[in-house]
Amino acid sequence: MSTDHIKRAIQAGWDEMSGAYQVETHISLDDVHYAPLCPGERELQILGDVTDKAVLELACGAAQNSIALAKMGARCVGLDISSGQLAKAREFVQQEGVDVGLLNADGETLNMFRDGAFDVVISCFGWEFIPDLEACLRECHRVLADDGLVIVGTTHPMSAFEWEAEGQFLVVNDYFKPPYEVWEELEGETARQGLTFFRTVEETFTTLVSAGFQVEGIWEPYPYDINDMTDEEKRAIPYGGPFWEGQYERLSKVPFSIVYKARKRI
Ligand SMILES: C[S@@+](CC[C@H](N)C(=O)[O-])C[C@H]1O[C@@H](n2cnc3c(N)ncnc32)[C@H](O)[C@@H]1O
Repeated sequence: MSTDHIKRAIQAGWDEMSGAYQVETHISLDDVHYAPLCPGERELQILGDVTDKAVLELACGAAQNSIALAKMGARCVGLDISSGQLAKAREFVQQEGVDVGLLNADGETLNMFRDGAFDVVISCFGWEFIPDLEACLRECHRVLADDGLVIVGTTHPMSAFEWEAEGQFLVVNDYFKPPYEVWEELEGETARQGLTFFRTVEETFTTLVSAGFQVEGIWEPYPYDINDMTDEEKRAIPYGGPFWEGQYERLSKVPFSIVYKARKRI
């Protein structure tokens, strides 16, 4: 299977899933989300001050992170392969009255941007759909200014494995070869296959280094104790909603997301 084929399937999948995703997951327009039921940027301070920073959000979906960053003073461009997701992004950008550029493109090829155009490249829950992570990170390196930051917020390799709800444990068959998640339910005759790539910590770390970055920090965000929260407090969680609350036991024992903060080496 060529990677173009995989990407077309992923794009079709997200066009189809966008409506459900935006309803099932409550995503903040005021804080940057990194992980389900977990604190966002306002508490974790992974990015720090973004005033006047030029930010590219890859695989932005409905651009909630770009919108939140624009409210914090950044100049943002959101890019996504799915026109369905971007339609929702346009709605939110208009609704929130912020200035966020939106682009329908493949995050692996950033040739529309000049070298050094951005101070930050960020993506949360996008990297796991990129087949050639190294090619993508090399492009990020090119479009980043000297000292620029890339934020790789992605699914933790542990999230590839099944949760045994009754016994409350994770079934890890082989950590070193996390399974690909293959989605095949898409439309009848054209057997389109989408993939989610789970990568070990070593693989992502090494890929960042070989693409020219120095990793400055890794976060495995820990969820809020939702049992102690009012409905109003739960609604303020940057990335939540009933779908994720239903997975609280698992999320409080095994990290769902991992965030790498890495700086461009020159
Ligand atoms: C789980 S959603 C995350 C969206 C957003 N970052 C968020 O946190 O809500 C994954 C997104 O990745 C996008 N995507 C997948 N492959 C992509 C690619 N090659 N280039 C750009 N976007 C891509 C999908 O269209 C989808 O919007």
